[in-house]
Amino acid sequence: MQQLKDNFNRKFEYLRLSITDECNFKCNYCLPDGYQRSHDNQFLSHQEIKHLVAAFAELGTKKVRITGGEPSLRKDFPDIIKSVSEVEGIVKVATTTNGFRLQKEAQHWFDAGLGAINVSVDSLDPKTFHLITGKNIFQKVMDGVSACIEAGYQQVKINSVLLRGQNDKDLDLYIDWIKTQPIQLRFIELMQTGDNAEFFKQHHLSGLWIKEKLLRQGWVQKTALSHDGPAQIFSHEDYQGEVGLIMPYSKDFCKGCNRLRVSSVGKLHLCLFGEKGINLRDLLTDSSQKEALKRRIISALDDKKESHYLQLGNTGITPHLASIGG
Ligand code: 5AD
Ligand code: SF4
Repeated sequence: MQQLKDNFNRKFEYLRLSITDECNFKCNYCLPDGYQRSHDNQFLSHQEIKHLVAAFAELGTKKVRITGGEPSLRKDFPDIIKSVSEVEGIVKVATTTNGFRLQKEAQHWFDAGLGAINVSVDSLDPKTFHLITGKNIFQKVMDGVSACIEAGYQQVKINSVLLRGQNDKDLDLYIDWIKTQPIQLRFIELMQTGDNAEFFKQHHLSGLWIKEKLLRQGWVQKTALSHDGPAQIFSHEDYQGEVGLIMPYSKDFCKGCNRLRVSSVGKLHLCLFGEKGINLRDLLTDSSQKEALKRRIISALDDKKESHYLQLGNTGITPHLASIGG
């Protein structure tokens, strides 16, 4: 079995695959004016997705996260989950969702083969949740999270983007919540993208104060496992849940990079904040193209850079993360 590696000896066993860039939320850091379609391209078809994942699996991909936009806006989302989970070599299928459909669909997706789920819950205060996401449905999303735990997912993670002056006051609520819940909270530092420069200046908050607070309260940093990617994970014997910190502006963040991305129109992105993306779509029509597809992916990896250079204000061409699947 081949294993994708780059020139810095990073292994890529994890693919993040966006299946739509459409979203029905208006998160203030991502799509404050809501989704606006900026291209006429069709999203990858179910069949194209199968060809794509089959090639990646033969290159050593073991885990696929289906992202968006909001992936559950696609009617064939459960079929996609099922097909991806059936590809030989893929041992884990995950998704990231805004939780809109979760209460109704958590069980259904689980039955289709979804093993792990990340739900964005940017505040535990219903009003702040509404302010950040543009949707007044805090309780509905939380009921969705409960439905995931009941359905028996291996892993339920909650993503919260740290926003100065908005959800920073919620930290204690979050920590109390996971005392009795087997949830991994993930605090993500706001990243600057092409569209949010002004917002970033006002609301970016480093995750370091959380780290310091956790360590003071007896939390212990776990040694990083290769599949954790760039997150720093903390646990505490009195808590069922864990805390993950994602600090993209910290030194060495990119050293743990273990993922590649494919956009909803079939472009390979070597980094969230990369370049233009390498088109794979002409090689997704037929399974007989698989070897050529694999060759293109391998040669693309040769260009993967050591770091994202975000510290230098570089945002590449990424206007917002919905466009490539945070
Ligand atoms: N900075 C950090 N995280 C972001 N996300 C979206 N945009 C940004 C950004 N600019 C996160 C969402 C979600 C995941 C898909 O990506 O909160 O949890
Ligand atoms: Fe939609 Fe996710 Fe962007 Fe919020 S962060 S607008 S849920 S794509």
